[in-house]
Amino acid sequence: MTTSTIMEVVDLSVDYVLPDRTIKAVSHVSLDVNKGEVIGIVGESGSGKSTLAMTFLKLLEYPGKIKGGKVVYYGSEGKSDVLKMKPSALRKYRWKEVSMIFQSAMNSLNPVMRIEDQMGDVMVEHGYKEDEVDERIDYMLQLAGLTKNVRKSFPHELSGGMKQRVNIALALSCDPKILIADEATTALDVVVQRQILTRLLKLKDDLSISLIFITHDISLVANIADKVNVMYAGKIAESGPSNEIFDSPQHPYTKALLASIPSLEQEKSVKGIRGTPPDLSEEIKGCPFKDRCDSVFDRCKNEVPELKMVSQGHYAACHLYGR
Ligand SMILES: Nc1ncnc2c1ncn2[C@@H]1O[C@H](COP(=O)(O)OP(=O)(O)OP(=O)(O)O)[C@@H](O)[C@H]1O
Ligand SMILES: [Mg+2]
Repeated sequence: MTTSTIMEVVDLSVDYVLPDRTIKAVSHVSLDVNKGEVIGIVGESGSGKSTLAMTFLKLLEYPGKIKGGKVVYYGSEGKSDVLKMKPSALRKYRWKEVSMIFQSAMNSLNPVMRIEDQMGDVMVEHGYKEDEVDERIDYMLQLAGLTKNVRKSFPHELSGGMKQRVNIALALSCDPKILIADEATTALDVVVQRQILTRLLKLKDDLSISLIFITHDISLVANIADKVNVMYAGKIAESGPSNEIFDSPQHPYTKALLASIPSLEQEKSVKGIRGTPPDLSEEIKGCPFKDRCDSVFDRCKNEVPELKMVSQGHYAACHLYGR
């Protein structure tokens, strides 16, 4: 961590404990979020991205169980251990310190409430006075790129892109320091996706917040993230500065993800990743990527690769690197 670290995730592991099996959704994940930074979390479906993000807000529900590790938040009132927060502390932390646009948020707006009432409720609940709320709703909608008249609308009257902008306005309504966006653009067409992404980045700069951007689409984080964490089977396979991850990826999984991006500029063949991720409810022997990896060798079959530094700030969990 550095002096500008605002959140520190240390060796976090999460299981879903079902009657007949236990799914190791997140295993020993560590990462730092610095002030004003964009952190990309990338990985295929089921790699544990949402589970990880939920623990940042202590929102994990049954049958989810924290198996170990911690989430430390460095706020204006000092350092706090998020996973040990009491309900009263959590109420102040969520929305006001760290806020999240949930995966499938577009369908989670209350269909029978006007946008202004949904936004107003959140603000009042978090201590804003009734008389400032009204002005604040307009301000937040404008920040998200919407006009004031949207406030009188019901969700069904808005397009997908507009609903997602409302979610951005909602998530920012209590001035959080960190915004987590979980697949915030996935359900949108590419043009609207780009607009939402551009808006998120502008807001990040204007409001000096940190953004944790979660996606299965590695091409989306290429131009926006300062640092990227590539997740595979609940673990970080590779992490580092964005330019390094894209210009000199080390882990075969990251290379495969990058090779699967279609490109307009150059004629390259797009290569999907063969096979499927491992079943997280079964014990994984050796490297979790071994069955899909073109560079697999004996050691990968028996020994779990640890994250090792490949260059300053750049780590990969692969036996090709380090001894
Ligand atoms: N409530 C739950 N009960 C049991 N298993 C769960 C639950 N939620 C998630 N899982 C399992 O935990 C693993 C990680 O899921 P998670 O939703 O965190 O992945 P993800 O990377 O966000 O995937 P996606 O890209 O599809 O959103 C998966 O194997 C998933 O099936
Ligand atoms: Mg998810």
